[in-house]
Amino acid sequence: MRLPNGTGPIGSKPGIPGPRSVLGWKMNMLRFFRSPFAYQRLLYDTYGNLVALNQGDKPSVVFAFGPEHNQQIVTNPDFFEISSELVKVPKETVLGQLFYHNLPLMSGEKHKQHRRLMLPAFHHERVMRYGAEMVRLTERLTDEWQGRAEIELNQEMKKLTQRIALKTLFGVANEEELDEMGTLITQMTKSILWVTLAPVNLPYSPYRRALRVAERLNVHIRSMIERKRSEPDAADVLASLVHAHDEDGARLTDEELVGHTFTLFVAGHETTANALTWTIFLLSQHPDVMSDLLEELHGAVGEGEPALEKLNSLPLLEGVVKESLRLMPPAQIGARVTTASCELGGVTIPPNTNVYFSQFITHRLPELYEEPNRFEPGRWSTMRRTPYEYLPFSAGPHMCIGWGFAMQEMKVVLSILLRRFRFSVVPRAVISPNLVMRPVNGMPMRIVPQDGKFGREPVRGTIRQLVDW
Ligand code: HEM
Repeated sequence: MRLPNGTGPIGSKPGIPGPRSVLGWKMNMLRFFRSPFAYQRLLYDTYGNLVALNQGDKPSVVFAFGPEHNQQIVTNPDFFEISSELVKVPKETVLGQLFYHNLPLMSGEKHKQHRRLMLPAFHHERVMRYGAEMVRLTERLTDEWQGRAEIELNQEMKKLTQRIALKTLFGVANEEELDEMGTLITQMTKSILWVTLAPVNLPYSPYRRALRVAERLNVHIRSMIERKRSEPDAADVLASLVHAHDEDGARLTDEELVGHTFTLFVAGHETTANALTWTIFLLSQHPDVMSDLLEELHGAVGEGEPALEKLNSLPLLEGVVKESLRLMPPAQIGARVTTASCELGGVTIPPNTNVYFSQFITHRLPELYEEPNRFEPGRWSTMRRTPYEYLPFSAGPHMCIGWGFAMQEMKVVLSILLRRFRFSVVPRAVISPNLVMRPVNGMPMRIVPQDGKFGREPVRGTIRQLVDW
């Protein structure tokens, strides 16, 4: 059997180049986790677009770089599956209810059916309806910033995207409930690592604590589900999921609703917070672009509330967001595991091999992007790229369901914050992104009321190897 797009069965040329460490492939993975960007660059520059970290003769991990490999991997989910290895919580526990029912871990018909049921909540008109809350909550944040001279931007963006997610996903009724849910979900996401590494239910263990938080979260989400049943017109995502049904009447069960909403929250808020953080950082380091963008925003929006339709027709705002997601994609690498022997780029990959595809490397290929390390939003005014050449939201059946939501959220937030404040990085701050594109030391920013006096501050950190200016 031969798969589409050139993937096929065993029988092709064996052997994939790659570094061989006497201490084994795990040593090389450690190097990857420690310096994800420099290490990917080194692998690509040294070994080419298919690189293996071997255990004996067998590849344990394969890095597959470039648009063709991206396409083969993301469009063939039967052979390249999203691994469930990381989520090792027992299914029958209350934790299992939060972690098992989610789109990334589903496949085949079940994935298609659930995605179909969820899609209406992310249609353009629905996302436009969430816009009013995005505006209100961003303005609430700017009120909280009054009188402050310095902020940690990444933390503030996380606070904001969390509030937006809670309001638009669950329709949380009041600010107190909003913050309480936020705290519970933050505690839960912080425990994920412990839950996975040491699922031991002993008194005072992190796992026991996680179980308690999961119980409270479950109770909260289930009571919201009940509330939505009696509110057919509610405009939030959960309400849409509660009322969604197939032509043959199939609906999501309560357990599935809990899992999906929890996943939407986790998948949606930190990625968007990191994307906003890097966009504001890049703008603060590119005074000319910032000045042009402010002019575009003032021309279109003036002083008042941004009209959502208008924001979608601003070419520079669109270019700024796209260019930021190109250079600093919050999901900078994607992971799959092979379900059977298959062929990738003419080479046989055995079953159970971890295969990584890289948005980071693809987005910086000089044959696709001239001067790839430069922040040039203007390039998007004429440039078109295929879904495998530009894929901040991935592509194929598991492509981000919330991409339109995220794009609108970023445009709304930027249009408000940039007109109110001028941001400048604290001089000589150390700015370094980690594996999931979070600035490891935060993003310390000085803010003053917007006065148009833009200038670039010197910074240190690994960002200096990632962006040319
Ligand atoms: C800038 C912000 C965001 C980025 C960069 C991003 C990126 C991604 C990527 C790369 C994937 C696919 C992963 C893969 O192929 O392995 C994905 C999937 C997903 N994202 Fe997002 N995302 C963002 C915002 C959101 C938001 C706001 C939501 C929901 C409100 C969301 C919900 C999801 C869900 C549910 C999936 C799984 C889809 C499936 O498996 O069918 N994301 N996202």
